Amino acid sequence: MRRQGGLVKCLQKLDTSLRRNIVTNVVASSAEAPQKDETDEKEGRKSFSAVQVERQGQAERSVLMSCPPKINEKKFLKYFSRHGDIKKYFFYERNGLYAVVEFAKRECVESLLEATKIPCLSNEFPMPFKSRLLSLSHYGSAASPNQQSGQQCQPQTTIPIDQLIDRLSRKESIDQQVTSLMETYQLTDDNSRLRFLVCSLLQDIAAAYFPECTIKLFGSSVNGFGKLGCDLDMFLDLDDISGRRTKKQESGLFLEYQLKTVSTERVVTQRILSFLGECLDQFGPGCNGVQKILNAHCPLVRFFHHPSGFQCDLTANNRVAMKTTELLYLYGELDPRVRHLVFIVRCWARVHGITSSISGAWITNFSLTIMVLFFLQRRNPPIIPCLDHLKDLAGPMDNSMIEGNDCTFVSDLSKIQLQRNTETLDQLLHEFFEFYSAFAFSKMSIDIRKGKEQIKPVKNHLHIQNPFDSSLNISKNVNAAQLERFVALCQESTWLLEQTKTNTPSGKGGSASTPWGLATLLQPTNVAEIKSNRKRRVGLTSDRIKGLIESLKNGTQLKKS
Ligand code: GTP
Ligand code: MG
Repeated sequence: MRRQGGLVKCLQKLDTSLRRNIVTNVVASSAEAPQKDETDEKEGRKSFSAVQVERQGQAERSVLMSCPPKINEKKFLKYFSRHGDIKKYFFYERNGLYAVVEFAKRECVESLLEATKIPCLSNEFPMPFKSRLLSLSHYGSAASPNQQSGQQCQPQTTIPIDQLIDRLSRKESIDQQVTSLMETYQLTDDNSRLRFLVCSLLQDIAAAYFPECTIKLFGSSVNGFGKLGCDLDMFLDLDDISGRRTKKQESGLFLEYQLKTVSTERVVTQRILSFLGECLDQFGPGCNGVQKILNAHCPLVRFFHHPSGFQCDLTANNRVAMKTTELLYLYGELDPRVRHLVFIVRCWARVHGITSSISGAWITNFSLTIMVLFFLQRRNPPIIPCLDHLKDLAGPMDNSMIEGNDCTFVSDLSKIQLQRNTETLDQLLHEFFEFYSAFAFSKMSIDIRKGKEQIKPVKNHLHIQNPFDSSLNISKNVNAAQLERFVALCQESTWLLEQTKTNTPSGKGGSASTPWGLATLLQPTNVAEIKSNRKRRVGLTSDRIKGLIESLKNGTQLKKS
């Protein structure tokens, strides 16, 4: 593989441009005062909570609209601007054309909703449920006969792997390949907005019963490691209702008389989720295939949100997962190599069937991400600090105890000083595969809190400590066969990368689209080939040994005779 000096700079630029691609003002609102946020100005990095607040605000001012296939964009804008200034809009395709329109103020959405009505259908009876999921076809005015076609639609899903390999093969350097991989797979600004909007639409439904609740996104939609098409993990936060968040002074007055009670908090969660699942099934616009999975370790309601195409999981009381998400986001913000390495490894793992979309004895994307973080902590000097160090840097506002677990760590990115490590991404990738090819999985566990391997406390095949509860193993589901496969693939990939070092793109043999660099690594057939070559090599070796034994035998016989 070729080493590129400017790789880190180039990746930093890419990261910043993806993060900054936030608002294309259409009609800027003069009434909107610029808000102070918690951006680390020097680096242009925002804290996790600042990003969440900004995105939630955008979502609350937005509507999602099903549109006719062709739209006159000018009339479209004029039509909606009657309700107030539009801050941003975009179109996307999903079995039809959809638009997301963000207004400058919430009142504009209210004004728009005032003007909507439930459609009259000839032979069906719609549920009279008003939401911010609208259909423009019943308005007519923006869909004029004098239409323009070809709205610019950003993709909301990834391209197939063979197309990605082809795309990467045409690049001239590893850093261009990484840039291309990230641009193709990473969540776009529009896709993030859509995710927050779907979450906000669901919150509207839940808030009909629990007015102070919030529904928050966690997992890869917001931790910076999300790939287009990843699921939408949400949790219903009722802490503002239960008063857990703010310690109010004792007033002697309780919220209600004769509240219903149940035996455990888990039963509360199950009841609420069961009820909300029913609401989504019966009234939730666009929510299909609702399944209540209430006996799981973490009870959830799973459904498909048709207009966005998101597979959604709604949980409740999942505050530790929210903290884990924040931690992963923070690590991803510290150095661009973190996200890029996680992306490449996740992509590699998926192609080779190490991870899967169905649950089973596989390594999960979450476990894999922790493995990458641990590897980066083990570099010399470390690229990212251990969790205990992040805890030492925490201020009073960062204190967080959840269910008896200390989840405290610094949220202010500017307090974290990194050590100088100049390893390039291709070096790191190679080293990652080598590191896990030789890791003592049988004895040691992976612990990002200490940033050092620990003696395994229990006999699980793969032991990765839960960052916020060291007694738990996040990969206890992984069986021996899956771990062996992972190690074998790491070994094969190390070998493959060594071969590719001499195999640079066009010019040194082969056409421009001959796979090289990252493209080689993502080719499922390559590893299979190496395996069969290895088998052949093993076969040849054993043939040679057999021959040697035979000749020795013969020699002995000859001597005897
Ligand atoms: P993809 O959905 O595969 O893109 O990644 P993800 O990180 O969103 O994983 P997933 O949807 O499986 O889980 C969502 C989040 O739940 C993760 O990011 C973690 O924060 C948390 N989580 C998932 N699995 C575990 C686990 O085994 N233990 C703990 N403590 N948290 C988990
Ligand atoms: Mg997820």
